[in-house]
Amino acid sequence: MTGATAFRASFDCLWCGTPHATRGPDDLEGWAQLCPACLGRAGENPFLRFRLRTAIADRAAAGRTGDTAAAAAVAADESPVTEPETGSDPMVAYYEARAPEYDEWYLRRGRYARGAIHDMAWQADLDTATAWLDALPLSGRIVELAAGTGWWSPLLATKGELWCTDAASAPLDIARDRLVAHRLRAHLHVRDAWAEPDEPADALFTGFWLSHVPRNRLAAFLGIARRWLRPGGTFAFIDSRFDPQSSAVDNEPSQDAETSVRRLNDGRTFTIPKVFYEPTELESALHAAGFADASVTTTPRFFLLGRATAA
Ligand SMILES: C[S@@+](CC[C@H](N)C(=O)[O-])C[C@H]1O[C@@H](n2cnc3c(N)ncnc32)[C@H](O)[C@@H]1O
Repeated sequence: MTGATAFRASFDCLWCGTPHATRGPDDLEGWAQLCPACLGRAGENPFLRFRLRTAIADRAAAGRTGDTAAAAAVAADESPVTEPETGSDPMVAYYEARAPEYDEWYLRRGRYARGAIHDMAWQADLDTATAWLDALPLSGRIVELAAGTGWWSPLLATKGELWCTDAASAPLDIARDRLVAHRLRAHLHVRDAWAEPDEPADALFTGFWLSHVPRNRLAAFLGIARRWLRPGGTFAFIDSRFDPQSSAVDNEPSQDAETSVRRLNDGRTFTIPKVFYEPTELESALHAAGFADASVTTTPRFFLLGRATAA
């Protein structure tokens, strides 16, 4: 299905007519000749989906590697369209492979069971984090970056219209099933968290993503987070504190290293970025990125709870 699209640097969207200028020849919008909003609705409309799939194929055939920017929006009861270009990032490869066993970490099952005392403390912290997130005044257009298997997505989807995104499609399939099980809907996108925002959001959420942002890229990511939000919008995140019992029994986390070696149940290992930020460090970085009222607190052992308002 290649050859039906040709790249145009600027065009009127074939679906809604809105003029759009691309940032460069890797932009999928230019290949599909669809504006970001229509490309984002590709899962809901056969014509838009056809243009998206053809654009992905034609861009690849032209030898453009691109990044993993907006690929597909789908309703919660449809299958995500897989953007095939995420394979070169080891972290995406790791989470693609880990998807079927990812929730064992939340549920303290298998290699993540650390004994009754630690597991009860984990559950108590998880309850605290859930209640904290539930109490935040999130509403309107809510964007979740690096949503994974969607552990937090049902809660977010009850508060507003949720765009649930991740660079890996296997976790998003599980997120979709979770939302469907709760009879909730969201737009599911395969999307790189490093891609520039398309439409402004009222709220942005990341779960266990900031700790995968290397320290030397933290300011850049928080800049993206700020640009997602309308003034007054809320950025909220839950993330990891260092605790030896947080990860699998055969992982050896280090508080100071900025990478972590992760093992899957089948024994494969991956090395990925993992940074244990201090609350004060994050608060300073949030203020420097254009947020006000930044507040990063902790649960007793395992989690950071952060929120800030787009200034
Ligand atoms: C630790 S998991 C967090 C999942 C979920 N937010 C949660 O709280 O359970 C990190 C997620 O980041 C995703 N990821 C890795 N690199 C990414 C990227 N460049 N853009 C978007 N998501 C990415 C992975 O696929 C994975 O689902």
